[in-house]
Amino acid sequence: MDVEPHVLEEKTTVTVLVTGANSGLGFAICCRLIDEFLFTRPQSQTLHLLYSTRDAKKGEDTLKRLNAHLQNTLRRANGKAAVGISLLLEARIKLEGVLVDLTKLLTVKTLAKQLLARGQHLDAVVWNAGVAGWTGINWLKAAWEILTRFSQATTYPHFMGCDVGALTKRQVGGYGNVHMFPEPRLGQVFCANVFGHYMLTHWLSPLMDGESRVVWISSLSATPDLFNLEDIQAIEAEMAYESSKRLTDLLVMTAELPSTQTYTRPFFNQPPARATSTKPESARAPQMYITHPGVVATSIADLDTFLAFGMIAFMYIARWIGSPWHPITPYKGAVSAAFAVLAPPSQLFDLEAREGKGKWGSAADVFGDERVVRTEIEGWGFGGDLGSPVPSGSIASKRSEYRGPATKESREEFEEAGRRCWREMEELRVEWEKRLGRVEIDACASADV
Ligand SMILES: NC(=O)c1ccc[n+]([C@@H]2O[C@H](COP(=O)([O-])OP(=O)(O)OC[C@H]3O[C@@H](n4cnc5c(N)ncnc54)[C@H](OP(=O)(O)O)[C@@H]3O)[C@@H](O)[C@H]2O)c1
Repeated sequence: MDVEPHVLEEKTTVTVLVTGANSGLGFAICCRLIDEFLFTRPQSQTLHLLYSTRDAKKGEDTLKRLNAHLQNTLRRANGKAAVGISLLLEARIKLEGVLVDLTKLLTVKTLAKQLLARGQHLDAVVWNAGVAGWTGINWLKAAWEILTRFSQATTYPHFMGCDVGALTKRQVGGYGNVHMFPEPRLGQVFCANVFGHYMLTHWLSPLMDGESRVVWISSLSATPDLFNLEDIQAIEAEMAYESSKRLTDLLVMTAELPSTQTYTRPFFNQPPARATSTKPESARAPQMYITHPGVVATSIADLDTFLAFGMIAFMYIARWIGSPWHPITPYKGAVSAAFAVLAPPSQLFDLEAREGKGKWGSAADVFGDERVVRTEIEGWGFGGDLGSPVPSGSIASKRSEYRGPATKESREEFEEAGRRCWREMEELRVEWEKRLGRVEIDACASADV
């Protein structure tokens, strides 16, 4: 991870793409990026925020709400400083909606082509959009879990029913080429949470360089017991959401290891390593980061109003009795993702180079003051390096099924699982690129990268 100093501070325009921006955490990430950018970056810099929604109506509505948020921030700034400061600040934010449905790979391809055609460098992408794939609550189990292990139930709930076997709809219409049918199965949750973003990263990689950041949103519930290497799409799984998040952790944590380079190089559109290269290899591929928001009250569980209030009440109780994992409001939960996008390299890149690659989580104290903390990943630890001390401020897993700190064996197992996931993801990407058609990147690759 020995790369040149980051130059994000010297840019005039910082371009960030956030998916799933119309609600919950995605919207909050956009708001937080606006606020932190305005008050931590030099006045000479502009944030070009590309936010994605699934349709134009949601895009327009999101733009209105983001503008309203911006105006609030500007009003507060005017109160603190000389009147008129807001005019300067407002000019530094450019908002633009784009469309994508991650379970419809042709729309993923369309978005990639649209952005590649412009050739605009991407400084960061935040892969936030996602679905839980839950069908409802198993009431008996919920009551039992809440009564017998409250903190566990409100942090790692195991009582949600899953739509087992749910698949995406057919991706390519028409029967022009019969050899292309039937299509391979694509798990719905897998495609929305991981594979759609995976294809997008691959297709957009010509717009990114070694200083770009690919920020994935994972979850506390990404635990090893809910992931099966024989079914990485979690089509047969009872808990496809948790599996998709564990897969995300495995992919990101192992992305820079030598053992995955056979797969990560073609994924990032990089040429094979050359002995004569003067630039370190890792300098050329974008950096992937894992964050999670803790537990936040959003519509992901799709509860009715009464249950949603109940859920929020339980979240506050969990915080008051000592859980660090309940930021509760999406804005507080967005602190880790905003950090991964905007933190100077000394606080992120250099830190991971020194202390190992980790999972950056949003935590909150009993008063609700949020902070970013390293979160333990079972099997990997805090930084993947068992010889290094646990970085200060890290939070260990408090799951009741926790199997203990990472060991040499678990670390090896984790890396091997990551390598296998990379291999399968790459096979799937190649297969789907044949079906969907490649995105022609050569013409765009030279522009602005
Ligand atoms: N809430 C939590 O406590 C929590 C905890 C850990 C991790 N997370 C993660 O945070 C992220 C955001 O979730 P949230 O809690 O904010 O839920 P949310 O309010 O339901 O937001 C999900 C967002 O993803 C979009 N989306 C869903 N399916 C999509 C698809 N196929 N293509 C494109 N966009 C799609 C949704 O758009 P539509 O409105 O069009 O459906 C929405 O904008 C997810 O990755 C989730 O796993 C949440």
